[in-house]
Amino acid sequence: MSSYIVKGGQSLEGRVKISGSKNAALGVIAAAMAVDGPSIIENLPEVIDIHLLLGICQELGAKVEYLDNGTVKIDPRTVNTSTALLESVKKLRGSYYLLGAFLGRFSEVCMYLPGGCNLGKRPIDLHIKGFESLGADFQMTEDEIISLKADKLQGASIFLDQVSVGATINIMLAAVHIPGTTVIDNAAREPHIVDVANFLNTMGADIRGAGTDVIRIRGKSVLPANRTYAIIPDQIEAGTYMMMAPLTGGDILVENIIPTHMEPLTAKLLEMGAQVEEGGDFIRTYLPKGTQLKASSFKTMPYPGFPTDLQPQAVTLLCVAEGSGRVIESIYENRFQYIDNLRLMGANIITSGKLAVIQGGAPLYGTPVDARDLRAGAAMVMAGLVAEGETQVLNIYPIERGYENFIAKLQALGADIHAEGPTAVRPAW
Ligand code: UD1
Repeated sequence: MSSYIVKGGQSLEGRVKISGSKNAALGVIAAAMAVDGPSIIENLPEVIDIHLLLGICQELGAKVEYLDNGTVKIDPRTVNTSTALLESVKKLRGSYYLLGAFLGRFSEVCMYLPGGCNLGKRPIDLHIKGFESLGADFQMTEDEIISLKADKLQGASIFLDQVSVGATINIMLAAVHIPGTTVIDNAAREPHIVDVANFLNTMGADIRGAGTDVIRIRGKSVLPANRTYAIIPDQIEAGTYMMMAPLTGGDILVENIIPTHMEPLTAKLLEMGAQVEEGGDFIRTYLPKGTQLKASSFKTMPYPGFPTDLQPQAVTLLCVAEGSGRVIESIYENRFQYIDNLRLMGANIITSGKLAVIQGGAPLYGTPVDARDLRAGAAMVMAGLVAEGETQVLNIYPIERGYENFIAKLQALGADIHAEGPTAVRPAW
């Protein structure tokens, strides 16, 4: 099992270029399987989840060709099945987007229940309810094989009982091909929902309102595609590096981002006493000389609220702040698992259900910890950057699912970090 070795005590300084958004890319790749012609996708992050999903597309018969680093051409016209009983489907959450993509395109789909980070229960009932409203029959076997089939699909009005990124994208993916108008009410508004909608519109779809809580999709019988599309920058990767400057007493220019996507974090960092300077496509963060970070409190919420995917990193930042901060995790029931690890390192944190209370200022000490999930793994590395001595982050697989060139980018900023054991590389195909 590979690990990262971090020696604490360096101030991180310099520039870091943010990669394409992993979560947007997962939706866009599935969308490329939903259309009727080839598309070229630029700015794809080179991370395990993306390689896995591209591998699935290829196994299902699509032509997948890397034109350059981060640029892929997908031609779905050769897809010869809507049955995806592949083990790799179970390895990532994003594979569930093929449900919507294939239901709309072929009126049927059969695949395993998707996997992904273990953050507690992650049902897909809202996706299924949406597909049923569009006319699909749903079945699931005991060994978790899902099948959706429809004699006739028809656009419908769908109200999501709970704001769900995945359900919003999945229903949109199906509806672009379904006759009539589909309206998604109480839709999620995350930047990657807008990105998937923009991709689909570029390929010939008619989606309006993405980025608001009401999305209207007029189904089209043919989506010709034959266009090139660039993925938006990764909001969560950007946020992780934005926090590393005030964390380590450094000064980082986070480049190639969309600053408005960062507003919930920017507001929090300013409240904590960090400096945040914004330009057209960059944000610089640092802690003014002679000042100390102050604790703050937040609750995770759907966009434009504070993202749950930045919660573990922000809790780590609170460990070095002055005073006590309260964090409420309102999206996932099991997203505080990593806090045991922070406590092992010396952090003073009490949890009770959805609440964590962090008493900042307790010194952190390097010790072996593990990456419980993707974002928690990044938080462990962050803790290692400010811990005394050496921190070994074990089981780095989840981190490599979502952070492109994590080690190289950190080393370029001056971190003392290296990997032991093999790290992720793009599979040859
Ligand atoms: C996506 C992101 C993930 C992020 C999350 C919230 C991808 C591939 N993953 O996950 O990184 O943490 O958004 O921003 O983009 N829920 C249900 N029933 C459903 C669907 C969701 O009860 O059918 C619940 C979930 O258990 C969770 C909440 O709704 O409590 C939000 O989940 P959702 O927005 O769907 O997250 P994902 O799409 O899984």
